[in-house]
Amino acid sequence: MHGVTVVDLGSQYAHLIARRVRELGVYSELVPHDAENLLEKLEHSCAVILSGGPASVCEPNAPRISENVLKKLIEMKKPLLGICYGHQFIAYLTGGAVARGRAGEYGIAELEVRVEDKLFEETPRRQKVWMSHRDKVVELPQGIVLASTSYSEIAAYRLTDAPVYGVQFHPEVRHTEYGMKLLENFLFKVARCPRNWSMKNVAERMIREIAEKYQGGNVLMAASGGVDSTTSAVIIARAVGYDKLHLVVVDTGLLRENEAERVFKTLKKLGFKHVHLVDASKLFLQRLKGVTDPEQKRRIIADTFIEVFEEYAKKLEKQFGSFTYLGQGTIYPDRIESGRAGRSSAKIKSHHNVSMSRKLNLKLLEPLADLYKDEVRRVALHLGIPKELVARHPFPGPGLAVRILGEVNEEKLKILRKCDVILEEEVRQANIYEELWQAFPVLLPVKAVGVMGDHRTYGYVVAIRAVKSEDAMTAEFAKLDWSLLEKIAVRIVNEVEEVTRVVYDITNKPPATIEFE
Ligand code: XMP
Repeated sequence: MHGVTVVDLGSQYAHLIARRVRELGVYSELVPHDAENLLEKLEHSCAVILSGGPASVCEPNAPRISENVLKKLIEMKKPLLGICYGHQFIAYLTGGAVARGRAGEYGIAELEVRVEDKLFEETPRRQKVWMSHRDKVVELPQGIVLASTSYSEIAAYRLTDAPVYGVQFHPEVRHTEYGMKLLENFLFKVARCPRNWSMKNVAERMIREIAEKYQGGNVLMAASGGVDSTTSAVIIARAVGYDKLHLVVVDTGLLRENEAERVFKTLKKLGFKHVHLVDASKLFLQRLKGVTDPEQKRRIIADTFIEVFEEYAKKLEKQFGSFTYLGQGTIYPDRIESGRAGRSSAKIKSHHNVSMSRKLNLKLLEPLADLYKDEVRRVALHLGIPKELVARHPFPGPGLAVRILGEVNEEKLKILRKCDVILEEEVRQANIYEELWQAFPVLLPVKAVGVMGDHRTYGYVVAIRAVKSEDAMTAEFAKLDWSLLEKIAVRIVNEVEEVTRVVYDITNKPPATIEFE
C-alpha cells in the first residue's frame, strides 16, 4: 500500500511519528536508515519523513541515508520532511551548514512563524513547540527560513523548487501545540497522501491478504486468550475457514486464577471449531525448580513452551493431517523491539516465534504484524470480538513467573493468584480498569514482620504495579487514590494470610520496565 515511510535515524520518537501519521488516516511504515533497497521503498511512498536521532551530522559514523538517495528524492520532488536530526541532515547534505550550539535547546520553546506556507496553515504566528537538540542549522543552501526560535534562527525551512521541509522541533510529541496540525498539513496539503488507513478497511484487507497467501492445508496456532492472538485467529479463520484452524491453549501452570479454562470456553464461544487445552503445568514447574535468574526463567519457559507445543502438534497431525501454516499474533511493536538491541524479553519472544515456525517447518501467517496495540483493539471490535476481551490488560507470555521474584513454586503461585483476583476486583469496582494499561501484584522475595490481633506475623511483601501507557514503550505509574490503595492493601493482608505487607511501585518506564523481571 502506498503510504508514508519514516526513516529511523535513531530517535526514540521515530515510532511515534509513524503512529501519528496513522492517527491522521495514512498508512505508515518505519524503516531503518540502512535498510536494503531503501531508495526503491522511498520512491514508492507518498511522502518520506526523516526522524530525529541523537547523533551529530558532522560525526563520520552518524546514521545517514546516502547523499545519492537524498538527491534523487529531491530531484523527483518527493515530499520530504526532516525532523530534528533529519532537519539538520537535509540541510547539511544540500550544502548548508550545521554547527554545535553553545547550550542546546531542551523542552518547550516559542516558535515564531515568519513566512506563510502550507506547512503552517491554520496555525498561529507564535506557537509552543518541543525541542531537544544541541546542534543547529546555521546556514541554509537554497531555501527559505519559515520559522525561528530565540535559539534557532533556522527552526523550520523549505527548500526552493521542491516540497522538502525541515523542522528542528518535534511535531510528533504532544507538547508541540500544533504538531498534529503541522503533520496534517504536510500529509494532505503538501504531499496529497491518500486517506487509506481506517480500521474497517484494514480488517477487510487483512482477511483478503491472508486468503490470497493461503494455499490450502491446516493452520496451527498457540492461543492465549489475549487480544492479539484472538484477533489474529479470527482473521485467519475468516480467511481460511474455521475448520482449518487449530488453536492450542497451553496451561503452563503460570496463568492466573482459572485462566486456562476461561480462555478455552471463550474461544469456543467465539465459534472456533478446534480448540485444544493442554495441561503442562507439572512440567513447567518441575523445570523451574530452584531457578532464580530472571533470564534463565524466561528461557526455560520459552523452550518448554515450544517443546510442549511441538509434541502436541505431532499428536494433532496424526488425527487431523499435517499442518502447513503457523498463525501468530505478532504486532508491530514486537517487530520494532526485536529488531533493536532491546530487552531480552523481546528477543526471546521473537526467537520463540521464528524458531517455532522453523522447527515445525511451517509457513508463518501474521495478520497483525503492521498494527499497533490500539489499532488491534479497534480491529478486534470491528470484527465483533466482545469488548470484555478487547479491553483486557496485556499479560506476559511467561505469565506469573515474571511476577514472582526468585524461585517459582506452587505455594507462591497460589498466593499471587489470590492477590491478583483481589486487585482486579477492586480496580474494576473503582471503575478504572480501562484507564489503566496494566495493574498487577508482584510477589517479592523478602519477608517482613506484621502484627495481627495479639500475634506477631512474618510473611511475604507484595508490590502493586499499576501503569498508564499508550503502547508499553513508555509508561507512567498510575496515581491511584489513597483510599483505593488502602482498600487493596487491607483486603490482601486480611484475605491472603501469607502476606503481611503491601507496597506500591511508583517508578515510571523508563527507567524501570513494566514487569519486574
Ligand atoms: P516491559 O516489562 O518490557 O513490558 O516494560 C512491556 C509490555 O510487554 C509485556 N511483556 C511481555 N509480553 N512476553 C509477552 O508476551 C514477554 O515475555 C513479555 N515481557 C513483558 C508486559 O506485560 C508489558 O505489557
